Amino acid sequence: MNLSERDQQAIWHPYTQMQLADPPVPIVRGEGVYLFDDTGKKYIDAISSWWVNLHGHAHPYLAQKIAEQLQKLEHVIFAGFTHEPAIVLAERLLAILPANQSKIFYSDNGSTAVEVAIKMAVQYWRNKGVTRNKIIAFEHAYHGDTFGAMSVSSRSEFTHPFTDLLFDVIRIPFPGKGREQDTIDQLKTHITKQQSPVAAFIFEPLVLGAGGMLMYDAAVLNQLIKHCNENHIITIADEVMTGFGRTGKHFASDFLESQPDIICLSKGITGGTMPLGVTSCTHDIYAGFLSDDRDKTFYHGHSYTANPVACAAAIASHELLINEECRQSIQRIAASHTGFIKKNKSNQMLKNLRSTGTILAMDFETSEPTSYFHSLRDQLYHFFLERGIILRPLGNTVYVMPPYCITDAELGYVYDAIERFSDNK
Ligand SMILES: Cc1ncc(COP(=O)(O)O)c(C=O)c1O
Repeated sequence: MNLSERDQQAIWHPYTQMQLADPPVPIVRGEGVYLFDDTGKKYIDAISSWWVNLHGHAHPYLAQKIAEQLQKLEHVIFAGFTHEPAIVLAERLLAILPANQSKIFYSDNGSTAVEVAIKMAVQYWRNKGVTRNKIIAFEHAYHGDTFGAMSVSSRSEFTHPFTDLLFDVIRIPFPGKGREQDTIDQLKTHITKQQSPVAAFIFEPLVLGAGGMLMYDAAVLNQLIKHCNENHIITIADEVMTGFGRTGKHFASDFLESQPDIICLSKGITGGTMPLGVTSCTHDIYAGFLSDDRDKTFYHGHSYTANPVACAAAIASHELLINEECRQSIQRIAASHTGFIKKNKSNQMLKNLRSTGTILAMDFETSEPTSYFHSLRDQLYHFFLERGIILRPLGNTVYVMPPYCITDAELGYVYDAIERFSDNK
């Protein structure tokens, strides 16, 4: 049996209808922006392997730092014990996160970073003796697949088997162009009329990822945060996707005047090498848990919290990220995306061309409405795969979110394939 057949005997894949899906492509190695399958065919990883990879695959520096850490200390319980990689990483993150962030809480993926944030916000109020447990979130939001993260995510095909078990959330419209004021007004109305007062507002800053790469302005988010601040509502920025340069700055929050109280990070934090989650918070949130009363403790932790190897990978990735070469690559990719949008302004097949930093997205025009289950999705996916490009359209929405090491020629190859598909339609 080959790898693909053995896989099908033993493995159940994520987000995959196993009865309908094609056999998975066995990847045997990676190098830079490329992944290589078992026949030697190479693919440009134009979506950074579910948005995690920053510096390219099998990066020698990351590999070296991970190997060094593995030989020193692979893991240690993080309650009652600590280690240098976790401390160094926390110090470095606090140095680049918005200035109001004061403490780093570790977990091990994006969903857990969000769970931690929600639990922190709810327990913060409980610790103060105040009943505030409602959470405000955007329509089309995606915050992960665990129950709390699903609850604050938009209700969709992803969540509908669990609807009865998810907690209720106050949903406000996505503040797309022309709809900003409606979103602001609805937030204000909900805050004033809520019987059970609002604990927190959670949002993906500037770009809603899995909900369709929907982009919106920092100006409206500033107003929403400002209004929350005035009403003592905790603001939670889910930067799991937008963190670590994707939007052109370290964090999408860097575009904001009003800083969030809690920030969730994961994905790119280790450069795409090891699972790691971070939830950072202000001193005020942290101080809300300090007490002689043990009931006010934050009883949350995962076995692999602050795994030293993952922390070492994140430190190494951060060193690469702050390198001038990487900063320039991010700006170069952002400028290329803008060029692509300009060039295709009058392309009738490509609608809603948009970009934020290194994230480019567009909707393929058809008679069907834009949706995750759009019939064009599989055609697009296979068209790109045949040409050695990994793009994973969200229905008829195609987006490009490459590792920062992608060259202009490689980006050009991806753009060209998108234009070709649109020509053939
Ligand atoms: C904004 C956002 N939050 C949370 C998550 C969940 O992260 P993970 O898949 O690591 O659980 C994702 C994943 O796509 C995300 O895009």
